[in-house]
Amino acid sequence: MDRSRVLRFLSQVETCRVVLLMVLVVAFVSGLQYFELAPVLSIVSPGNGTVSEYRESNDTTKSTENETFLASQEASTELKPYNNITSEVLKSSEHKFLNDSPKIEASGQSRRSNETASSLHSLQPRIPQIHKKYPHRSTKKPPVVVISITQMNKMILKRHNDPKNSLAPRWGLKVDEELRTARDKIKNVGLLKKDDNLYAPLYHNLSIFKRSYELMEQTLKVYIYSEGDRPIFHQPEAIMEGIYASEGWFMKLMESNHRFLTKDPNIAHLFYLPFSTRILQQKLYVHDSHSRRNLVKYLKNYLDLIASNYPFWNRTRGSDHFFTACHDWAPAETRGPYINCIRSLCNADVGVDFVVGKDVSLPETKISSSQNPNGNIGGNRPSKRTILAFFAGNLHGYVRPILLNQWSSRPEPDMKIFNRIDHKSYIRYMKRSRFCVCAKGYEVNSPRVVESVLYGCVPVIISDNFVPPFLEILNWESFAVFVPEKEIPNLRKILISIPVRRYVEMQKRVMKVQKHFMWHDGEPVRYDVFHMILHSVWYNRVFQTF
Ligand SMILES: *[C@@H]1O[C@H](CO)[C@@H](O)[C@H](O)[C@H]1NC(C)=O
Ligand SMILES: *[C@@H]1O[C@H](CO)[C@@H](O)[C@H](O)[C@H]1NC(C)=O
Ligand SMILES: *[C@@H]1O[C@H](CO)[C@@H](O)[C@H](O)[C@H]1NC(C)=O
Ligand SMILES: *[C@@H]1O[C@H](CO)[C@@H](O)[C@H](O)[C@H]1NC(C)=O
Ligand SMILES: *[C@@H]1O[C@H](CO)[C@@H](O)[C@H](O)[C@H]1NC(C)=O
Ligand SMILES: *[C@@H]1O[C@H](CO)[C@@H](O)[C@H](O)[C@H]1NC(C)=O
Ligand SMILES: *[C@@H]1O[C@H](CO)[C@@H](O)[C@H](O)[C@H]1NC(C)=O
Repeated sequence: MDRSRVLRFLSQVETCRVVLLMVLVVAFVSGLQYFELAPVLSIVSPGNGTVSEYRESNDTTKSTENETFLASQEASTELKPYNNITSEVLKSSEHKFLNDSPKIEASGQSRRSNETASSLHSLQPRIPQIHKKYPHRSTKKPPVVVISITQMNKMILKRHNDPKNSLAPRWGLKVDEELRTARDKIKNVGLLKKDDNLYAPLYHNLSIFKRSYELMEQTLKVYIYSEGDRPIFHQPEAIMEGIYASEGWFMKLMESNHRFLTKDPNIAHLFYLPFSTRILQQKLYVHDSHSRRNLVKYLKNYLDLIASNYPFWNRTRGSDHFFTACHDWAPAETRGPYINCIRSLCNADVGVDFVVGKDVSLPETKISSSQNPNGNIGGNRPSKRTILAFFAGNLHGYVRPILLNQWSSRPEPDMKIFNRIDHKSYIRYMKRSRFCVCAKGYEVNSPRVVESVLYGCVPVIISDNFVPPFLEILNWESFAVFVPEKEIPNLRKILISIPVRRYVEMQKRVMKVQKHFMWHDGEPVRYDVFHMILHSVWYNRVFQTF
């Protein structure tokens, strides 16, 4: 929609040959891990809110499904849960996914056996050691390697079950012991009893989530460094609205939190770095400079300060530090010395350098009014959702032009695929459509994912390598449809092949998952989006205590 951020970086760095020192030592096939050596900048004029593409017509009431059947299914709560929607829908389409066991880079593995107590402090967990050149990743072309959501789930499990987790804590600290205890308790949870507030089919494993969440409430302590100048640090007020607002909301709720904060860094399990990547860009990016260098420098200076004033950063090289960052440039800005942090990023692209199981996908929540952060939540019942699929948005990136070319002028009246439309119509469509297409823009993320959920529309994610929020916990395939970019021509076929019964259950799950995507001003509420972000950070921390 109206992404007002307009600048992207230009291919210009071929000449610079910057030698990047950081490389991912993670459970990826190495081919995945390209760096954005040459960020692309192009100037796009912000849309001016034309409504011309909005075609309201009577044919929207045409439906592909049998309305009576829909209505009868809605009432039924006896439907079997299913977890299979994408695999079934997509099994017809041959897709090149990674094989099941991504290689682990060798360097991190062999060294453990040879550590001595005295060397421990100088050894860093999972520190990138390899100097490697990465191909330029263009935001104008599809990724070379596509990782399916199923594959990402496996990668998380693999990382969290790494045998190194069962080794003794590195630093013999009390906090490490506490994390270890928490991990054992989560792993051995068995079956907890049902919880009326949590709908089991939404989760990979509800017992694990519940136990982990409760342990977070009982155990977690977060320390916030007081260093950091305003407005880039410590000033969430300036970033409470717009498409980057989640970094502001998180910062505000974290800094004012009563439950999790500690003033004693020695008992902290996590260290929060309270900066806004949006304000960083607004304050420091030199218009037309095509360079992020001073932004990166600013963040580096901050770390130097933290590392010299406190022992905590050096102790783990940042792996118990975290931040939330919603600006598109955040991954590139934080891959230098910040690469070991638990990076909570809106731009969560597993094809670049987002590490599933370590980093955390930050929901992009577009907030129009900070008084009412969740918007005019709600939408029609399934039987009153007469439009099969809806999308509207500017033609950012390479996916949307394909989507519009394929679908905007086709005869099928149940496909409402538009260029930009006005906001009111956009919301009305979301509330009346069965499926809402969340197509990649310049980057993998889109505010449509959370919007779909809040308006009760089943998300259809067309964004290869996007890591959806809370993937550690949520079984996304049970309530969203993931359509590979190259399947855009089959979009309608894929959607109408989903049986009504399944659709109704999916939609129900979307309604049930809403609470995990809602902000609450003042005191955050149990299981809301603030707590879910914090929980994912906690969970990934607990499962990598080495
Ligand atoms: C912007 O709006 C004006 C009139 O409101 C219109 O003439 C112009 O074509 C629009 N520009 C774009 C880029 O849509
Ligand atoms: C829509 O329906 C109304 C009455 O139901 C009719 O007057 C109008 O012409 C229709 N519009 C289109 C575009 O079919
Ligand atoms: C609608 O669904 C009902 C129940 O499955 C079925 O009996 C009826 O024939 C269907 N009608 C149409 C038009 O498909
Ligand atoms: C999932 O789909 C596969 C293949 O379509 C099938 O063999 C399996 O039984 C399904 N699992 C569930 C839980 O429905
Ligand atoms: C451990 O390191 C020492 C030298 O620091 C080396 O001689 C020895 O071979 C190493 N042992 C293993 C198991 O790598
Ligand atoms: C959830 O995980 C626990 C611990 O690994 C396991 O005992 C339990 O059976 C799992 N529950 C489900 C529903 O898979
Ligand atoms: C942490 O490491 C950096 C660089 O190696 C060093 O300059 C700094 O003094 C260290 N901090 C502490 C508290 O020892």
